[in-house]
This record gives sequence, C-alpha cells and structure tokens, in this order.
Amino acid sequence: MAKNAAVIGYPILHSKSPLIHNYWMTQHHIDASYGVAEIQPDHFADEVRALLGDDGLAGFNVTAPYKQDIMAFCDEIDVSAQQIKAVNTVIKSPTGKIIGANTDAYGFWQNIQASSPGFSVNGATVCVLGAGGAARAVVYALKQQGAAEILIVNRTFETAQKLANEFGVKAVSWAERGRMLAKCKLLVNATSLGMQGKPALDIDLAALPRDAVVNDIVYAPLQTELLQNAANRGNKTVQGIGMLLYQAQRAFEYWYSVLPEVDAIITKRVLK
Ligand code: ATR
Repeated sequence: MAKNAAVIGYPILHSKSPLIHNYWMTQHHIDASYGVAEIQPDHFADEVRALLGDDGLAGFNVTAPYKQDIMAFCDEIDVSAQQIKAVNTVIKSPTGKIIGANTDAYGFWQNIQASSPGFSVNGATVCVLGAGGAARAVVYALKQQGAAEILIVNRTFETAQKLANEFGVKAVSWAERGRMLAKCKLLVNATSLGMQGKPALDIDLAALPRDAVVNDIVYAPLQTELLQNAANRGNKTVQGIGMLLYQAQRAFEYWYSVLPEVDAIITKRVLK
C-alpha cells in the first residue's frame, strides 16, 4: 500500500481535492487514497502532530484557515511559501523532514500557459484585482515571470499598498481600476467578486488593449461576467478552474514523484 494524502481545513465544504487526487492515484496505479480532515481550531495542534506522526501519510494539502498556522510545524518552508506567506502543501520527506510548500503560484501560471502556450509577461505591465491570499500567489508568480510593472488594485487601498510594498510593485486605488488597464498585457481577477453568491465585478474594460489576456481565478461560474465581457470585445480569456487543477498537479508530484496530467476527463468531473 502506498502512502495516503489528505486536505486539512475548517470548515471543509465540498472540497474538489479528493476527486482530483483519487482520480490521479487510480490513473497511476497508486494504491492509496486522499481524504478530508476537518480540524476544529481547538484541536489544530494535536491533530496536526498526529498527522505528521502518521507513517502512512505522504503529506497533505492545507486550506483556510490554516495556511499560516501550519508553518510553525514545518522544518523547512520553500521560497514560494515564504514569499506568499502561506503553505498549501505539506510534504513528509523520506528522511522525516516536514516541508511546507506553496503550489498556488505554480497553479496560476501553469493554467495561463496551458491555455496560452508561449504567452509571456516578461517586461510587460500586468494588472491584478484584489490583495488577499489568492492575489499574493498571483503577484508572486507574475514577479517570477519577469513582469516589469505590476499594478495591484483593491477595494481597500491600504491592503493593496501593503502587498505592493512587500513585493516592490505599485498599488492603484479602486476608482482607477478602469484607467489602469491602458498598457495592460494580462488582467487577473483575484477577488471573490463575480463568484456565485457574491456581488458582481464592476469594471470598464474599454481601455484594455485587445491583445491582452484576461484571467479570472473565480471558477463558479466557470464563465464569469468578466471573462464573457472580455471575450465579447475580442480579448483572449483563461478560466479559473485550471488553477485549482494545476496547484493539485504540483502537490501530487511532490508526494508521488510523478506529474499527473490535467486532462479533459478530470476537468469535466471537477466542474460537475
Ligand atoms: P482570498 O484568500 O481568497 O484571496 P480574501 O483574502 O478574503 O480571500 O480576499 C478577498 C479579496 O476580494 C480582497 O482583495 C477583497 O478586497 P478587500 O481587501 O477590500 O476586502 C476583495 N473583495 C471582496 N469583496 C469585495 C467587494 N464587495 N468589492 C471589492 N472587493 C472585494
């Protein structure tokens, strides 16, 4: 029997991760399973210690609200997790070391690459809407990819300013969100706006160059209003579901040393 994996969080509602990882385990004939561990905040330390001491576990994913709390339990934290200040994947190395990693930035960029092979932001101006946890991973990835100018726009300007200072990029006020698009090569929505049950994302795309790529990290609905508006005016668009799949791809590779494929079947199943 191979080692298992899991996701920890609280609450964990309708996580897609078991579906994704169990599919890949079957595909790669790995005799293991991926489970869900909902851990109440009072029990966090004890339950994490138990998981870390479990020899049958290869590692686990970490979701809200524990992406920061888990760091205290790691022997090593990889550079991306350090910079993003969040661990979403824990790997138990064969030597017993507990490694905290972040695969969200990889997932974000791999998703863009998969739908736009060869697309580059090297030397370009890019715009990010939002300054929360998801935006941190996006900004980190865009810096890694050599973007020359990263504009962060957020409803709460102070939060944008703080993130911008940390990464040495520029914060823009929410009122300027339409005007900032003039030189933009890639626009990313990293807010929760446009998600089912959340308010709409109100942004005027008139200034956005027609050859810019537009990506939404929201994937419910799959085709957000932002993506539809962008497509209607001729912009290339990238849906958000791939970020979820590709962050999982990298985690799976860390645990099982094989890079599983993000294929049409798993994409379809995740969307059901
Ligand atoms: P995540 O970790 O998923 O990024 P988050 O940290 O709660 O979630 O961040 C949510 C983002 O959506 C933030 O940038 C938030 O803006 P604020 O910093 O001003 O809160 C943004 N957001 C949420 N609701 C919003 C709304 N009604 N209008 C504008 N921005 C909103």
